[in-house]
Amino acid sequence: MENEQPTSVLKSEHQIILRVIEVLKHLVVRSESGVAFERESFGECVEFMRLFADACHHAKEEDLLFPALEARGIPRDGGPIGVMLEEHRIARVLTEQMGEALEAYDRGESGADSQFHTSARQYADLLTQHIYKEDNILFNMGDNLLTGDDQASLCSKFCEVGCRAFGGKTRDQLVKIADTLETRWDMA
Ligand SMILES: [Fe+2]
Ligand SMILES: [Fe+2]
Repeated sequence: MENEQPTSVLKSEHQIILRVIEVLKHLVVRSESGVAFERESFGECVEFMRLFADACHHAKEEDLLFPALEARGIPRDGGPIGVMLEEHRIARVLTEQMGEALEAYDRGESGADSQFHTSARQYADLLTQHIYKEDNILFNMGDNLLTGDDQASLCSKFCEVGCRAFGGKTRDQLVKIADTLETRWDMA
């Protein structure tokens, strides 16, 4: 990936995240209309969001891209990076809430399904808008500011992150969760 831009790596991860968001939204609509609460698939969506969207993808942005952008003059506080970090924080809270709602559902608590629907919708809305802002605003600013050396160094560090395990799963195994969900629900 020698000439690859770090932002294009992140943009392609956004597309994978958006595919799982589409499945999540589809299953929430289905569940709200009384068809079925798809516990297993919801669990897989939450696991994917926790490990791929957050531990793998947001970590690359927070630990690697954003500090590089700050070093090239994009402000953190009161600027676009601060907004992105705050949205990551809210996404983490919503992911946790989805997980807790699933546990409550397993315990047979009433209202757990609608709690899950609410957090899932908020997560889907937040992350869709967040990804739009990164793809169309912040990453364009970054492409203009980062030097060739910055970009090469970020790409090689991204590769190191990509080789880690997230909750015992490799990046490829997590991408497979997205593929499996899409195929299962005929959304590929
Ligand atoms: Fe982000
Ligand atoms: Fe992102």
